[in-house]
Amino acid sequence: MDLVTETIRQYRRCYGKDPILVVTAPGRVNLIGEHTDYNDGFVLPVAIDRHICIASAPRNDHIIKLHSVDFQSSVTVPLSNLTPNDQIRWVDYPKGVADQFLKRGYSLTGANFCIKGNIPIAAGLSSSAALEVASAITFRQLHQLQIGNLDLIKLAEKAEMEFVGVNCGIMDQLICVLGKKDHALFLDCKTLEYRYVPFPEGIDLVICDTGIRRELARSAYNKRREECVEAVRQLTTYRHGLTSLRDISSEEFEKVQQKLSPILRRRVLHVISENERVLRTSEAMKKNDVELLGKLMIDSHMSLRNNYEVSSKELDTIVDIAVETAGVFGARMTGAGFGGCAICIVAKEKTEELVERLNTEYPNRTSHSFAVFLTKPANGSAVVKPQESLTPITVANLFS
Ligand code: GLA
Repeated sequence: MDLVTETIRQYRRCYGKDPILVVTAPGRVNLIGEHTDYNDGFVLPVAIDRHICIASAPRNDHIIKLHSVDFQSSVTVPLSNLTPNDQIRWVDYPKGVADQFLKRGYSLTGANFCIKGNIPIAAGLSSSAALEVASAITFRQLHQLQIGNLDLIKLAEKAEMEFVGVNCGIMDQLICVLGKKDHALFLDCKTLEYRYVPFPEGIDLVICDTGIRRELARSAYNKRREECVEAVRQLTTYRHGLTSLRDISSEEFEKVQQKLSPILRRRVLHVISENERVLRTSEAMKKNDVELLGKLMIDSHMSLRNNYEVSSKELDTIVDIAVETAGVFGARMTGAGFGGCAICIVAKEKTEELVERLNTEYPNRTSHSFAVFLTKPANGSAVVKPQESLTPITVANLFS
């Protein structure tokens, strides 16, 4: 049974009637441009064909009822008392989004949610952003809120920062809304200008989930961000008016790098070189130069491993196995790091061989089991028309 049908079925089981709205939002992988978004830099993510689905209906008693099929858990939350709950984390995403709407003066009257997904959770594939975006679109639709896509994306990002406590950038929420089938999205995080870049033909995109979930990831992520802020602060002595690492070139940095501590120097080197790689990757993809795309992905991984220090033994092992395999163009960790997933790009005719090798070699080298699956660049979030039997929603594809 597909995800949407199953979510609707579960909604009926939980609430005893049909939902009036169904929304889906995808996960993502980032082809390149890691830890650059919160430095005002460039990123190149793709939405993937794995989703969070929310079936819902409005209420009038200022209560939100949230049911998660995957966690087999239900929670009732009064809109007058929205506070984070460290014990039941999944609830904080829709709650954080409701909180942001209220803080911006929008009026919510309550809702029933039934949530189901097929994005591996806490694997660096952005299931959190998908849940935030799906929640935000659900509230927007149910309460007919006048908010355009860009503000909705920023609201979802703010929910993650303020309510969930991860000081993230805008990449995940943005690709979740704006993803396009068969394309990657090149985004300038300073201006928020973006363009679509066709995903090269003849290659497969393989996701390898290490199965490793790091509790410390949140604090380590926030620490990296603080280090970047500190590096900018120190660099303003030599480069007046500098506000982000995006605005210092490698030539300029070369001259002043000795002034920074070795750790900050490595962090900055990663960000500057990663931004350059994203620009080169986008050009390479336009020319269908898969060899260069792959090489830049591997360089990105090495920089994340050695300079930004967010990789792990397991992620490095996947990259090692992949690059030893014929037909593989590139591989790297994707997302925040510290565990989670790596991606590989491989010539279609060699995909089977790669998957087989990973499935035998990875457990040998790490004594862990893990999951490998293929994905395709997919469309962003969508209001799915409920089935015939449901009251059709009439709001056309929303105010943007
Ligand atoms: C997480 C964050 C993003 C981005 C990546 C690293 O996914 O949510 O904003 O910073 O890590 O590139």
